[in-house]
Amino acid sequence: MEALILEKIENGIQTLTINRSDKKNAITLDMYLALTQALNSAKQNDDVRVTLITGAGADFSAGNDLAEFVTLAQTPDKLNTTFDFLHTIATYPKPLVAAVEGMAVGIGVTMLLHCDLVVASQSSTFILPFVKLGLVPEAASSLLVPSLVGHQRAFELLVLGEAFDANLALELGLINKSCDLGSAYEDALVYANKLSVLPTQAVQLSKRLLKQPKEDSVQLSLARESRVFKERLTSQEARDAFMAFLNKA
Ligand code: COA
Repeated sequence: MEALILEKIENGIQTLTINRSDKKNAITLDMYLALTQALNSAKQNDDVRVTLITGAGADFSAGNDLAEFVTLAQTPDKLNTTFDFLHTIATYPKPLVAAVEGMAVGIGVTMLLHCDLVVASQSSTFILPFVKLGLVPEAASSLLVPSLVGHQRAFELLVLGEAFDANLALELGLINKSCDLGSAYEDALVYANKLSVLPTQAVQLSKRLLKQPKEDSVQLSLARESRVFKERLTSQEARDAFMAFLNKA
């Protein structure tokens, strides 16, 4: 069976592909672990100057695997694997580029807040459905989305959780560029190639300087959100929402 996270390192660029297109690239704990391990090993690998994250097939990611959420409700501490991934992506020292096609849902959107350059195809759709699922925002999105767009627009995106398109994502500052359907990866690769030939240390130091002012608050938000998120996972509201999805209600 093909790996659910594919890794390729070429010309200084590590490409990580979420490879579960039959489930719209929904992410399981094993996949978070593989992503974390790949990012951690890239940190130590001088051959990697840039990391590019993308999804196989037509979608970026439908977010956390909801079937797995049902079983995790019995053992919410296992969610630490997801939170380790979020900590790793939030503190990743090398530039991160993302290529988004199709659906980006939940963590499929919030992980973009930790990327440095994001390309999304014009037909991509973004959804932050946490509250509809009885959950709360994660990935420090309760801090980073309001910083990006102000409280009222953040509340609308994170609490009403309605779908929005690449034009709005561009206007909100969530993505750098919208492109034609099917060319997000090629366009993201253009960004990655540009970054890979810039002076490596200067790029990483600049990223650090840009991130440093919010570093402590991001860590605090991650910790605060993960505590509440775990509690919510075991709630009846969440259970009902997961079952409704799984039963296609
Ligand atoms: N977890 C587990 N499986 C998922 C999934 C998820 N997050 N998202 C999609 N899938 C699966 C579906 O169950 C379906 O599997 P099946 O073919 O075995 O029945 C397959 O992926 C295709 O999804 P489907 O719902 O048929 O596609 P769609 O185009 O009608 O809808 C979405 C796409 C993304 C809008 C819809 O799948 C969805 O709402 N997914 C859940 C997103 C979500 O809430 N993520 C969690 C955020 S915390």
